[in-house]
Amino acid sequence: AQKIAIMGALDQEIAILLDQMKKQKKVNKGGIDFFTGKLQGKKVVVLKAGVGKVNASYSTAVLTQNFKIESLIFTGVAGGLHPESLPGDLVIGEKLIQHDFGKFDSTGFSVTPYRKLTGGHLENLYVDADKKLLIKCLMAAGKVDFGPIAERHPKVFSGVIATGDMFVSSNEKAFWLYEEFEALATEMEGAAVGHLCQTLNIPFIVIRSLSDNANNNARIDFNQFVEPASINSAKLVLAILEEM
Ligand code: ADE
Repeated sequence: AQKIAIMGALDQEIAILLDQMKKQKKVNKGGIDFFTGKLQGKKVVVLKAGVGKVNASYSTAVLTQNFKIESLIFTGVAGGLHPESLPGDLVIGEKLIQHDFGKFDSTGFSVTPYRKLTGGHLENLYVDADKKLLIKCLMAAGKVDFGPIAERHPKVFSGVIATGDMFVSSNEKAFWLYEEFEALATEMEGAAVGHLCQTLNIPFIVIRSLSDNANNNARIDFNQFVEPASINSAKLVLAILEEM
């Protein structure tokens, strides 16, 4: 039978899922530990992909070569870009884009627009999440009690997620990502996994909870909020599995 794959980048991001899994078995393929079993009565395979687009792509390749996957859910933390977002908030990826694909000047800001590289269509670089999973995810989000984290109860956003091989910790870069891509969150794996899922015809969704705001204070915030944010994202995964 086909399994739902659940992927995170860090141990914290998959920890509570592994804790709650029934009939858990571990198998190593290509250097990656895959945990199979049941969550909310659904057959799943859970794995830690590692950080960044290379690790995420490799893990997606090994996963899809070794397991029959009906869909893929990525769960984890991200840096918030929306001015009203705070650590603990959820961002559901409707579209994902690689923000570091193209040519860059010395400050790291894109000077040769990637849109030229794809024949004038910026849209081409965005990869869309599966519509049915997105709807399930939005419905599930309304049912979860996330509990207060930063200064208030977490809000749920959905929109663009910008993926790149860097931990963003600069006010300017964070604002640039928000302006340039209309991205609500930045992280380091989503668009890579999404791109491969699109190629392989596997429905996918990326769920993130904010550990920081990708600003000058991001490193400090990340350490404070990585744990509760990972839990929020995992809680939403469990709620989506209920809907599936
Ligand atoms: N994941 C969590 N916070 C992040 C940030 N600020 N930049 C990139 N990835 C992140």
